[in-house]
Parts: sequence; C-alpha cells; structure tokens
Amino acid sequence: MGEITKPKKRKMKGIVLAGGTATRLFPMTATTSKQLLPVYDRQMIFYPLNTLIKAGIKNILIIVAPEHSGQFLNLLGSLLKKHDVHITFEVQSSPRGLAEALTLGENHIGDDNVALILGDNIFEDDFAKQIKEFRGGGHIFATKVPDPERFGVVKFNKNNKAVEIVEKPKEWISDWAVTGLYLYDNRCVEIAKKMKPSDRGEIEITDVNREYLKKKELEVTLFGGEWLDAGTPDSLLEASIIVKEKGISRNFHPILDQAINELNEELRIRSKKRLQ
Ligand code: G1P
Repeated sequence: MGEITKPKKRKMKGIVLAGGTATRLFPMTATTSKQLLPVYDRQMIFYPLNTLIKAGIKNILIIVAPEHSGQFLNLLGSLLKKHDVHITFEVQSSPRGLAEALTLGENHIGDDNVALILGDNIFEDDFAKQIKEFRGGGHIFATKVPDPERFGVVKFNKNNKAVEIVEKPKEWISDWAVTGLYLYDNRCVEIAKKMKPSDRGEIEITDVNREYLKKKELEVTLFGGEWLDAGTPDSLLEASIIVKEKGISRNFHPILDQAINELNEELRIRSKKRLQ
C-alpha cells in the first residue's frame, strides 16, 4: 500500500507594497518615498513590517518606486539578516494598482501563500494569530469608517456573512472598509494576472477579493483598533500623534526593536567618527 502523504503545508511569504508617488504629500515626497517619512519616532515602513514580523514571516519582498530604491536598500537591505528575516526588493516602474503587487511578486510567492500589506498602513491590532492560522482562500480585515466612499467596502447579510465588496461605492452599502492587509493562497497570482484594469485604470485588489468571495473562500475579520494610512499632511500628523498616544511603536516585535536599536547605535558610531 502506498504511503499517505499529507497535503503540503505552505509557508507564508510577505509583500509590502511601497511604490507610488504620493502626490498628496508633495513637497515631502519630492525627495523621498511616502513610506520613508517619519511616523512619530521611526519611518512609516517599519509599522507594516512589524505586522508581518509579528506573525513570524521570514521572507519579505518590498516593492518600491525606482527613484527610491537606493534609500530603501540602505535602510533595510541588511537590517534583519542576522535575525533570519530576509528582505528583498522589486522595482515597480509605474504603479498600476494594488493587485499588481501579486504579479510582481510571483517568483517571490513561488508555491507559498502570501500576506500582502500596504506600506502606509498602520494597525494597532495584532493579526499574528489570523496570519499564522491561515490555510487557504483569501482573508481580509475590515473596520468601520465614517467615509466608506473612499475605500473598498464589504457588505454583510443579516447573518453577518460577507455578500458583496465594492470599490469606492457611490451609494452607501455599509460602513465596513477593507483595509490594506490581505492574505491569499497561491491562486492569487493567476487571479491577478487575469484582471482587467478598472475605470480608474488600476488592477484592483477589490477584484481579487471578489473572486475569492465568489468561490465562497473569503474570510473577513472585523476589528476595532486604530487603522491609519497617513495619505495627507493632516492624516500623517494625526498618525504620529495616535502612534505616540497608543504606544504603537513601543509595542514592536523584539527582533525589529533590537534591529532598530542596533541601527541607531551604528549611526551614532558613524557620526562620532565623522566628528573626530
Ligand atoms: C485601496 C484599495 C481599497 C482599500 C484601500 C485601503 O484604495 O483599492 O479597496 O480599501 O486601498 O487603504 P486606494 O488607496 O487605491 O484609493
């Protein structure tokens, strides 16, 4: 009798999408990437990285705009190497929509699952449990907002089952916005490859989510903690204040904390040498 082989447990890879030009933050983003601007006491990119690292993800691809690739490499290229977290980079020449992260990340994802997070999304909640327990399909995270017309929005039936997702609905369907953390199984790459650009000319992540919803394989976690995306000068300022007040940067995973402390030490030594 042949041996029974268990289905292969797939690993979870990480992708941080940090491309884009962030025109609403000009002139700040004339010289650097939005995701390298400070939120309270560290660069914005550290917050989504923390969300992935807290979930034990060891392989992370960061997608960046060509003009900022050097800055990302300097900051993060070797930062976590000795902590066994491997960061690689992919350049996105011009942003064509969030779902493009899945096709740009095809080789990185390989045969595994993926947690995609937007490089400007800061979550107070810890989703390590959901990420670690993910087994297949799609899994998104939604929170109540006062202005749902600005987001992808998920509608529920009276049994609290997700029944529809609409990108920037013109008519009110619900207050539950889909936030920038998405867990998918391996099929997401093929799904994203088949997507056609929307009316705004983008390959929409909402269409990927709708595909999993159609298959009845989309899980939605609702959460109530802070969710910040720092897209305008006001929300960038507000993000810093909330991160400080809620102690979000005090609550990082020890690996990332240690790596940031080591970086600070190295910078101090370098600046001392320069003064000698
Ligand atoms: C994108 C997504 C939207 C999601 C939002 C989260 O919107 O298309 O579904 O709710 O991110 O920040 P965009 O930033 O492209 O307007």
